[in-house]
Amino acid sequence: MFKRLFGFFSSSIAIDLGTANTLVYMQGKGIILDEPSMVALAVDRSGMGKRILAVGQEAKIMLGKTPGQIEVVRPMKDGVIADFNITEQMIKHFIKKASNHKRMMSVPPTIIICVPCGSTQVERRAIKDAALAAGARRVEIIEEAMAAAIGAGLPVESPRASMVVDIGGGTTEVGVISLGGLVYANSIRVAGDRMDEVITNHIRTKHGLLIGDSTAEQIKKTIGSAHPSVDNGSMDIRGRSVFDGLPKQITITSEEVRGSLEDALQQIVAAVKQALELTPPELSADLIDSGLVLTGGGALLKGLDVLLSEVTQLKVIVADEPLLCVAKGCGMALDHLSTNKVYMSRTR
Ligand SMILES: Nc1ncnc2c1ncn2[C@@H]1O[C@H](COP(=O)(O)OP(=O)(O)OP(=O)(O)O)[C@@H](O)[C@H]1O
Ligand SMILES: [Mg+2]
Repeated sequence: MFKRLFGFFSSSIAIDLGTANTLVYMQGKGIILDEPSMVALAVDRSGMGKRILAVGQEAKIMLGKTPGQIEVVRPMKDGVIADFNITEQMIKHFIKKASNHKRMMSVPPTIIICVPCGSTQVERRAIKDAALAAGARRVEIIEEAMAAAIGAGLPVESPRASMVVDIGGGTTEVGVISLGGLVYANSIRVAGDRMDEVITNHIRTKHGLLIGDSTAEQIKKTIGSAHPSVDNGSMDIRGRSVFDGLPKQITITSEEVRGSLEDALQQIVAAVKQALELTPPELSADLIDSGLVLTGGGALLKGLDVLLSEVTQLKVIVADEPLLCVAKGCGMALDHLSTNKVYMSRTR
């Protein structure tokens, strides 16, 4: 059936299948879909199986507010597939939605899809299989750090080194690129989701208040900070008291949130420092001029650029539209597939 669906396509697509957000780029159109990687499931009448109720934005709205028979799941975890069937269904749904943007397509498409640098061959195979099962005829894999660098507009083809740090929901990818390839790549499973988790834990243990995932993310985005110079005020938070189960409100400061993020931030700093230590000397010399570029939603955490610049002594730039860089980069790689400039991973 999905083969038929692809009958409507005439060009290929690139998918940034992220832990937090999935973006679809279509050749000639740019980014045509940007939705949370979330699926709402309902127990069917028999009580045995589950059916998909909503995907993407519609599912996110239900998060934390669902009655017993409905649950909202994130089928991707740490940049890789946690639930194969639901991921496949989610990809199918997004492709179908994206297909409304273009009619009269005839050739089944190639899909370029990105994976974390640190993912295993089995994890990569699973992502490829999910895209094939969703109806693609050919699937190419690109490493997320490479896609991020291309999308951020770094001169990846040049012999001069560029460095990119992509902080997503599940993983932070660090890559040093020269002559169209990754000279160094590493990925750690500490990024935006971990930040939300540590904020939630801190508020539970320090203030006895239970909060949901959406609240934790809101706190991070509003008053989260990685450096004292950008601390910005305080915020009232509501949740449920762990002591008496009643609704409760507390006020939390930016400084306190920064304190709770400390460990997670130090792990990101350590990953960046390790990349610099393992980069060949000739290329490290280039980084003094080019600095490093931050992409991914985590790049928007206030003061992260200041913190990284302080510890590395390098110029740190937040890319334009950091949340879109990987999808744009995957799309640009797609455009270059035919001209034989390939940035693809060798995974088969
Ligand atoms: N203004 C902001 N401040 C801090 N964090 C933010 C901000 N905006 C978005 N984020 C975080 O960025 C993360 C999502 O980024 P992104 O879409 O790049 O991840 P992803 O590509 O889905 O994940 P991954 O690449 O790890 O699979 C989320 O954790 C989100 O909370
Ligand atoms: Mg990502």
